Amino acid sequence: MKRFLTVSELAQRSGIAASALRFYESRGLIASVRTSGNQRRFHPSMLRRIALIQVAQSVGFTLEEIAGELACLPMNRTATKRDWERVAVKWQKELAAKMARLQSLNDNLTGCIGCGCLSMKACRLLNPEDALAQQGNGAQRLS
Ligand code: FES
Repeated sequence: MKRFLTVSELAQRSGIAASALRFYESRGLIASVRTSGNQRRFHPSMLRRIALIQVAQSVGFTLEEIAGELACLPMNRTATKRDWERVAVKWQKELAAKMARLQSLNDNLTGCIGCGCLSMKACRLLNPEDALAQQGNGAQRLS
């Protein structure tokens, strides 16, 4: 049976501050059990979850996005290779979509540099794909 870790041990081994670990726990990203003295103890599998959180944040996922995906993984055991692959496949698709949006933003930004009109009709940065036109005629943001 694996020995559970104190918050200090988890912080030391993960390189994440204990305060951040408590925040992660409050957001449901990691979980602990309590001793009879009401102290937190963490299953060693939380190290893997923390590593995944760090990686996901480094590529631009929000904590809400990360929490949503981690909620599908078991909290009471070490995630299997299959579990991690499922997360990776989903995040690869989301990353590809984010990269496409960033590329589009970059492409449109080139045309806007030096323009500054911020026109609802002409500016694809301010009104991408003319999304506000689908809400009807006239000024949609003033009502
Ligand atoms: S700022 Fe003029 S088109 Fe975007």
